[in-house]
Amino acid sequence: MENPGSTRRDFGPARAALDIEFRKVGKVFASRKGQFEVLRDFDLEVRKGEFLAIVGPSGSGKSTVLNLMAGLDTPTSGTVACHGHPITGVNSEIGYLTQHDSLMPWLTVEDNVAVPLEIRGIPKAERRERVRRMLADVGLGGFEHHHPNQLSGGMRKRAMLARTLIYDPPTLLMDEPFGPLDAQLKVVLQADLMRLWNATGKTVVFVTHDIVEAITLADRVIVLSHRPSRIKLDEAIAIGRPREVHEARFAPGFEDHYRRLWSAIEIGGAEKTP
Ligand SMILES: Nc1ncnc2c1ncn2[C@@H]1O[C@H](COP(=O)(O)OP(=O)(O)O)[C@@H](O)[C@H]1O
Ligand SMILES: [Mg+2]
Repeated sequence: MENPGSTRRDFGPARAALDIEFRKVGKVFASRKGQFEVLRDFDLEVRKGEFLAIVGPSGSGKSTVLNLMAGLDTPTSGTVACHGHPITGVNSEIGYLTQHDSLMPWLTVEDNVAVPLEIRGIPKAERRERVRRMLADVGLGGFEHHHPNQLSGGMRKRAMLARTLIYDPPTLLMDEPFGPLDAQLKVVLQADLMRLWNATGKTVVFVTHDIVEAITLADRVIVLSHRPSRIKLDEAIAIGRPREVHEARFAPGFEDHYRRLWSAIEIGGAEKTP
């Protein structure tokens, strides 16, 4: 059992420079076949302003880690803290771009992006102004009155990103956001994300299957093992900034990062990477 007193001390002001902290986190799902252990003694520190990428085999718990950060799921044991305080409910400090297309098809782009502001009670005129500015920032100016089914896959991603950024959360979680997109579009969106990250200094936790993408974007890449998951490799990326996303792969050091990350990812076992 955790002692509440020691929890308070452990997550006090001295650790507030951390954005997110996992301490000895365990996560077990109950299924018909019994207990299903996804995380065991999982420790992770995400620093403020850091761009952290998470890679690992399918089913290793990457989305579970993001759900715990967002407060959408609770640890079975241990503690997850945000800005020095244990997370006890849905974490409003965080913007979460989930793996699935979550735009509401019956709403226009403008109305979809405005939803978080509406929830927060922002008056209509201000909402409209902020949404217009945000859509211009993500390259969707002029598409305010389109519906999601009139947009390409890349544009829908941009609209979801706009909806996540509109309320200016200090931390952004992204779950395989560019996975299904073609290679060229991916590079364009990666460049846009780098520009937004440079301009805002947000903390980003970015789950991807793509090692090249992870090295190109991140300050640090962690590799998860098969479950029960732990951090198998924690690799600081030594490529300078600002980075040109289409050139990072030619930078000195890129190949060494790629080899180390590739050999740390366990392919095989019960589940394979696609
Ligand atoms: N709500 C849940 N109930 C039962 N099992 C779950 C639940 N969420 C995830 N799992 C299981 O936990 C494992 C890790 O899932 P997930 O975090 O989605 O992995 P990843 O994102 O790395 O592919 C998977 O095997 C998945 O089936
Ligand atoms: Mg996942």
